[in-house]
Amino acid sequence: MILAAGLGKRMKSSVPKVLHEVLGRPMLQHTIDAVKKLKPEKIVVVIGNGAQAVRDRVKEDSLTFVLQKKLLGTGNALLTAKKELNKGTVLVLNGDCPLITARTLKKLLADHKRGRNVLSFLSFVDDSMSGYGRVFRDETGRVTGIVEDKHASPAEKRRFTELNGGVYVTETEILNHLGRIKKNRSSGEYYLTDIVNIVAKSGKNLNAYDCPQEEIRGVNSRKELFEINEVLKRRIVMQLMEKGVTFIDPATSNVHVSVSIGRDTVIYPNTYLEGKTRVGRDCTIYPGSRICDSILGDGVTIKDNTLIEKSRIRKGASVGPFAHLRPGNDIGSNAKIGNFVEIKKSNIGDGTKASHLSYIGDADVGRNVNLGAGTITCNYDGKNKFRTKIESGVFIGSDSQLVAPVTIGKDAYVAAGATITKNVPSGGLAISRSRQRNLENWGARQTVSKKTKVKKKK
Ligand code: UD1
Ligand code: CA
Repeated sequence: MILAAGLGKRMKSSVPKVLHEVLGRPMLQHTIDAVKKLKPEKIVVVIGNGAQAVRDRVKEDSLTFVLQKKLLGTGNALLTAKKELNKGTVLVLNGDCPLITARTLKKLLADHKRGRNVLSFLSFVDDSMSGYGRVFRDETGRVTGIVEDKHASPAEKRRFTELNGGVYVTETEILNHLGRIKKNRSSGEYYLTDIVNIVAKSGKNLNAYDCPQEEIRGVNSRKELFEINEVLKRRIVMQLMEKGVTFIDPATSNVHVSVSIGRDTVIYPNTYLEGKTRVGRDCTIYPGSRICDSILGDGVTIKDNTLIEKSRIRKGASVGPFAHLRPGNDIGSNAKIGNFVEIKKSNIGDGTKASHLSYIGDADVGRNVNLGAGTITCNYDGKNKFRTKIESGVFIGSDSQLVAPVTIGKDAYVAAGATITKNVPSGGLAISRSRQRNLENWGARQTVSKKTKVKKKK
């Protein structure tokens, strides 16, 4: 059961809190992913604030959504959704603690079972953090209840520095007591944490288990969102380093959870590797690059300030600096895509080069083609898009426009400055510019005419 209906007032945002992203993924999604690893019978998500947006964003068949109509607190959230639960053990998590790991959750479930508890939850000891519920224990160390930070007295705060992580394991029969939780007079909310007090009074087994603080830090403000993001970023980079990836500056390398990177790849500062990106071995990603949902083979080089979206780059190829691969490209092995080249929905063959200043859109380019500086595919007539086909071994001279649909046959040449509107046969040469005329002494004539103009004015 994930509680994700809250308002997130402290975020000061029109986006529901649980949809704020931590390394490119809504924080709620991180929690869902951790929970899925436990293979639960059912995952229930309580939504309320921005319900439709939350549902749309994290939609999956394995989720059951329950709407909490009035946001009357965490106790009310669980009470509303409890009808969806099968009988048995239930894990309850706040939807705003994205760094929780399946490992810690498994441990809590095991501790719950071993202690024969009816209620167990995660806690951590910290005397510097505010905003968390404080775990009260008696002299013998038995948990007696949880008191929210804002309702605890200074003396209680000094005495009780164990904080509630907002992750609970309980049995469905215990949830029958949820109705007994009273509305908190000062906040008007029903606190889920009051169930701890109720269970403690009943004498049944309950306990809190220590867990790594970084895992249960909640996100209530933008500042905490930033801090959590930093923790996750570091966690991911450290794991990749252990697997043999070099990071020149981990603090400015942003790698999403879902990205994989092969050995001996070197990642320079200010880089973003996002979504389902897979980077092979021995690659180098230079500064300022962002790579989204793309696959890079081994030995690929991405030079500085390059944006790559939903593309495949095969082994040994090099892209950038300042290149833009828009979605849908397949760049062949050892191909070279250079400065200020934009490519979209195109297949570029092995060993082909587009080294400078080009737009290649909707094109199928063969092997070992040379696309000269300033080659432009004119793929759009204002209404429709057309493809350009350039067969292997072709040489396109600089500053040429290829007006699609058009085919340049194998090993053909296109002379510089051409506007190609007709197919070029294999092995042929297309020239489409007017013949050059040289006018003798042009410079001298200009000076003479200028002088005469000046004289006339006088
Ligand atoms: C809660 C705990 C606190 C704990 C902390 C850990 C309570 C009363 N307090 O405080 O003891 O230390 O988490 O992070 O539970 N939610 C709903 N419906 C509501 C209200 C909240 O679904 O009506 C959801 C929120 O979306 C959020 C979660 O419950 O994901 C926790 O709510 P939040 O307001 O952040 O509780 P905290 O004040 O952080
Ligand atoms: Ca919170």
